[in-house]
Amino acid sequence: MLIIGILIILILIFSLPRKKNLRKPSFEGFDSPEVAAAFEKMTNFLPFKILRRRILSELKKYNLKGKLVDLGCGSGNLIIQIANNFPNLDLKGVDISSDVLELAKKRVLENNLNKKIEFKIGSAADFPFSDNSIDFIISTLSLHHWQEPTKALSEIFRVLKQNGIFLIFDFRRDARKFFYGLLKFVTKVVVPKVLKEINEPIGSLQAGYTPTEIRRIISQTSFDNIEIDLYLAWMFIKMKK
Ligand SMILES: C[S@@+](CC[C@H](N)C(=O)[O-])C[C@H]1O[C@@H](n2cnc3c(N)ncnc32)[C@H](O)[C@@H]1O
Repeated sequence: MLIIGILIILILIFSLPRKKNLRKPSFEGFDSPEVAAAFEKMTNFLPFKILRRRILSELKKYNLKGKLVDLGCGSGNLIIQIANNFPNLDLKGVDISSDVLELAKKRVLENNLNKKIEFKIGSAADFPFSDNSIDFIISTLSLHHWQEPTKALSEIFRVLKQNGIFLIFDFRRDARKFFYGLLKFVTKVVVPKVLKEINEPIGSLQAGYTPTEIRRIISQTSFDNIEIDLYLAWMFIKMKK
């Protein structure tokens, strides 16, 4: 019975067409302590934990050394796990929102990692690092918030060392219709009110790029070594300088 149920769900997921909707830009930073705290609560939910596990296993494929930046680091969950798994890295977290950075700094202190991780307030489009200074940049669920993605990607290219890598994980807006339905249901059941009021998380999905759109944006930058792995409602983009 269970197997038949799972099969029906899988058929539903893959048979429903992809959503073809126009991109609706999102807000850039989490500009209120309430929104930051509500998002922080959400990051403890299973899908976020699975994402972080997936990112860590991806990072283990690289011979990581030197300086790694988590761009749009939010309240610091991922960078703390990176610090615990890669103790020799020089870690920096960057975010445009001072409210989430306050949460990140508090959490880093609680984990006794304040000597290992430094946080900087700043925008992807005006990246607070010097040229050719960073070995690896990671960014999860942040790209769709950036108001100037081409400028941001050019900044990322500028600060990466030669052969440096930028790894992005983000939603793709052309997800299957089923995923939109699922996200709307989850929103009703578990998402804090303050996030619903700003149309999250569905607003983030609607602000996501399609693979074609992101390829077009990347083509306006100096990155030419690009790999995009596509999944149901999200994608991994790897770029090498
Ligand atoms: C959905 S949260 C993701 C946080 C974290 N990376 C995660 O996966 O849990 C998006 C984060 O990107 C930050 N952000 C948005 N636009 C940004 C920009 N232009 N530069 C830097 N950070 C930005 C927001 O303030 C927010 O903390």
